[in-house]
Amino acid sequence: MAAVMEQIIANTLNPDTNREIVNFGREIFGDIDRAQPSFLSKNYWTSKIMQWSMAQPAFKINMFRLVDVLPTLRSSNAIAAHVTEYLGPLADSLGGVARWGVRINPKSFRAKLTALAVRIGVRQMAAQFIAGNDPRDALKPLRRLRRRKIAFTCDLLGEFSLSEQESLAYLERYMNALSIFGREINSWSESTPIISGHPGELSPVCISVKLTALYSQCSILNFERTVATLSERLSLIVRKAKEIKALVYVDAEDVSSNDMIYESFRRVFGSTEFKDFPFPGIVLQAYAKGSGELLNQLLEFARKRGAPIAVRLVKGAYWDHETILSQQNNWPSPLFARKESSDANYEALSRILIDNHKIALPAFASHNVRSLAHACIYARKCGLTQKDFELQMLFGMADPIAESFVARGYLVRQYVPLGDTLPGMGYLIRRLLENTSNESFLRHTFFDENQVDDLLRGPVLSE
Ligand code: FAD
Ligand code: 2OP
Repeated sequence: MAAVMEQIIANTLNPDTNREIVNFGREIFGDIDRAQPSFLSKNYWTSKIMQWSMAQPAFKINMFRLVDVLPTLRSSNAIAAHVTEYLGPLADSLGGVARWGVRINPKSFRAKLTALAVRIGVRQMAAQFIAGNDPRDALKPLRRLRRRKIAFTCDLLGEFSLSEQESLAYLERYMNALSIFGREINSWSESTPIISGHPGELSPVCISVKLTALYSQCSILNFERTVATLSERLSLIVRKAKEIKALVYVDAEDVSSNDMIYESFRRVFGSTEFKDFPFPGIVLQAYAKGSGELLNQLLEFARKRGAPIAVRLVKGAYWDHETILSQQNNWPSPLFARKESSDANYEALSRILIDNHKIALPAFASHNVRSLAHACIYARKCGLTQKDFELQMLFGMADPIAESFVARGYLVRQYVPLGDTLPGMGYLIRRLLENTSNESFLRHTFFDENQVDDLLRGPVLSE
């Protein structure tokens, strides 16, 4: 661990490079002109809910609790009762129509209207971040993305399944999605490579998989059995992907699942059958203090495998969950406590990835212009071309930023989730928390309108 931290600290940025990063970042900001991204502008209620959440922490907590429980509420009475319980005490701080809807008798006609409005509101909010219910629904939005020269990776929503029936149904959904994508997408005229010769464009079809949905008994206490089962089920998906020539990423999840996820990744893509599978993707979370060590292990795995992997570098989507869990249990947190440290570590890991791009195709996944500009400029200084790495963003989050990078010739891939509200609730809540967090780059850019130079300042690593 100490050796890795030393490597990270030794690999600091020189001031000239930093100046170039800031200049490049200013150019991107010049393009986006702080036009609001879809999560703030598409429809009235989503934008109101996000704005109230940013302005009032108590509203945010209770609203997100309501969103979380909503898919399990079957009747209007139940919805109205929950609205009154969660939001009633805050009624005075809300606007006119909203105030009218939150203190209600669950048996009244008004309760029915409130329930309907809440269901529509949450569905609209989900539609900002989720492209459709199933792979057929997704074909149109996916084609639109490729027309705009944006690649995609599709995720079928689901995580932490509770029964084997649910896990096997999830596996089946992936097999079915790959069949549909293979049949339909490969024949589109938009499927010719966006950047010819880019390894990320070996196929227009790319999927991302959350392994915890593939086995209901995932547990660190059941490590061997978990990895064996996940590897067997992931192999079925990869075999199908190979048949239709699709690319595959395995997502990183919470800390308690990641060891099993990384081991399953290594087992499947290190196997004789899949040793030549092109650029199997894995995710590295920069908010984790152990991410430097993990990157070394992944690079070592790629070297031994004898064929490159892809590494999607993210900051990590489970910060709130992990932090609360560590506090509740009095555990030392495995994550950085300060946002700036995650940003600085992201940059350090970006540089290590760029230095090793021949064995690990870097995929810089972020909406943070500073993080992305840093990766692009450092790559250029090291002599990489735009075919040597890619940028990734989430569907519905930062279209103006994505378009600015596309216009500059970078390969940008959007992560496109598909599915119902119930399995998608964890995903939706993470996006709502992320976008309304005091630390969020997108919030500071599009809502608070912080100074560009503050947003582009180089981050420093501490705790
Ligand atoms: P920023 O606003 O710059 O950063 C926000 C991030 O900073 C938070 O998400 C958190 O990681 C970190 N942070 C916030 N507060 C603190 C704090 N107090 N201390 C330390 N760190 C803090 N995430 C996964 O976990 N697994 C995945 O497989 C995954 N896949 C993704 C795929 C794509 C294409 C993209 C774009 C993101 C993916 N993410 C994944 C989500 C990602 O981890 C981030 O949550 C998200 O991108 C926001 O980070 P940012 O750099 O865009 O924004
Ligand atoms: C999440 O599910 C995108 O994997 C990330 O939040």
